[in-house]
Amino acid sequence: MPKDFFRLHGLGEPRSRRRFLAQVSFGLGGVMGLMLGVPLIGYLFGPLIKRSPQQWIDLGPVSDFALGQTKLVSFTDPSSVPWAGQTSQTSVWVRQTAPNAFDVFAVNCTHLGCPVNWLDGARLFECPCHGGIYYSDGTVAAGPPPRSLFKHETRIVDGRLQAFTIPLPTSQLSEYVGNA
Ligand code: FES
Repeated sequence: MPKDFFRLHGLGEPRSRRRFLAQVSFGLGGVMGLMLGVPLIGYLFGPLIKRSPQQWIDLGPVSDFALGQTKLVSFTDPSSVPWAGQTSQTSVWVRQTAPNAFDVFAVNCTHLGCPVNWLDGARLFECPCHGGIYYSDGTVAAGPPPRSLFKHETRIVDGRLQAFTIPLPTSQLSEYVGNA
């Protein structure tokens, strides 16, 4: 076929094989990029826009908690992302204030979220980061914390204590618990 056949018959320039293959490659590359990129973006950013799951967590039999004592109980945070690993472990402080009546405090200080310690002798919670101090009922005794320790809602089911989880980060806790 003469080289200028297409031009003479008003059909424009023929597409070269190289150009055609390049366009096919770009097209397939784009499709592959979409197939891989959309799930990856969803995996990375999904937890940021998804509401954290809240649920009742089991803290153990009521008989594990002595009246008037404050005890640390650890559990896996159900709102953590799948790749959180060790950081998905969190804790609460549990106090039995009267028979079958419990205060369950989030372990995080309400200032900047450091885990607070219970000082049994002084009967106070102490934050090691900036010296925040809380009374045994969670109210602020001293230091920079702007409000009381956050309290979890509690219930007893079949003789076991349960607490309703509070999603992290702690800056959002006040949306869920109004015990300032
Ligand atoms: S984080 Fe607890 S006092 Fe600052």
